[in-house]
Amino acid sequence: MRRSTRAAVTAVGHFLPETRLTNQDLTQMVDTTDEWIKSRTGIEERRILKGESMGVSYMASRAAQEILKKRGMTADEIDVIIVATVTADMSFPATACLVQAEIGATNAWGFDLSAACSGFLFALNTGAGFIESGRAEKVLVIGSDKMSSITDYTDRKTCVLFGDAAAAVLLEPDSQGYGLMDSVLRVDGKGWEALCMLGGGSLHPPTHETVDQKMHYIHQDGKTVFRIAVKGMADVAVELMERNDLTGDDIRYLVPHQANQRIIDAVARRMDLDPQRVMLNISRYGNTTAATIPLCLHDWEEQLKRGDNLVIAAFGGGYTWGATYLRWGYDYAVSPS
Ligand code: ACO
Repeated sequence: MRRSTRAAVTAVGHFLPETRLTNQDLTQMVDTTDEWIKSRTGIEERRILKGESMGVSYMASRAAQEILKKRGMTADEIDVIIVATVTADMSFPATACLVQAEIGATNAWGFDLSAACSGFLFALNTGAGFIESGRAEKVLVIGSDKMSSITDYTDRKTCVLFGDAAAAVLLEPDSQGYGLMDSVLRVDGKGWEALCMLGGGSLHPPTHETVDQKMHYIHQDGKTVFRIAVKGMADVAVELMERNDLTGDDIRYLVPHQANQRIIDAVARRMDLDPQRVMLNISRYGNTTAATIPLCLHDWEEQLKRGDNLVIAAFGGGYTWGATYLRWGYDYAVSPS
């Protein structure tokens, strides 16, 4: 698709809780070992948000505030706030409203977007649509999840995987050829049972029974999801590369959702990518669901140069998955115009 105005990423921000939950800590809680967790997932520690009255909006607001500070912007310049999350502070109002109030974005509207681990990718593409159509000039796209709030710390199959974090990007119009170039996005609702949280929604409202049956925790058939995630992520990434005439050498970085290092390695191999060109920080944060991808962009921001080709790829519950080809919009040392 040819577009004159593209949505470029012009800033990134993040928030990480201070408390660390290490593999060693988890060995005191469930029957597991540091060796098993590291070799099967690549994770060494994750961050956990502790404290009264601290939910996803707390982390999301701080990630947003980092962007405002870095750019020397005031919050009233923001047009739209999109928060990707599966652990919103409340069923409603939307977290985006709470973030709007917290940061004082008096001219913004916004909403939450639910697509599990593909949430940030879908929100990025949704936000880009507002910029490309001319409906907005400054869109905050935030990925924020407090996975510890829906993790069963007696279930070794899931509790080793997840962590809490938020990270965000600012999208602005670009007419010089930078920004979101192309995407392949998919859902397949037939796979919903393999990765879900059954309780708390309108199908199974909270009752003593839903609590007793642990229906308010993440349920995952890990083996099934693993197999489908590798194929799904790699297929869309390769399709995106082919239709944009990109080889492995043309891609500066793969920015993959961080669910399992073995999934990421397999996807990079299918894309014919040098491992040096893969953003990988799962060892430090685990799977922070909607936050993993912008957290990578934050961690690699200083190394990124204007015009770098990035392929962002994600897979998550739903199933939801996709890949986006993004040309990076700025050099770290140079303040974006
Ligand atoms: N410590 C020790 N042993 C464990 C642990 C643990 N923490 N967890 C599981 N095991 C055991 C199992 O009980 C099983 O033992 P058994 O054979 O005696 O029954 C054995 O290890 C193998 O278990 P598997 O589940 O087959 O292990 P696998 O190698 O598949 O790894 C994992 C599990 C890490 C969950 C993997 O399947 C995975 O990463 N799946 C995909 C996750 C993903 O991508 N999710 C999508 C995004 S998340 C989102 O959208 C919210």
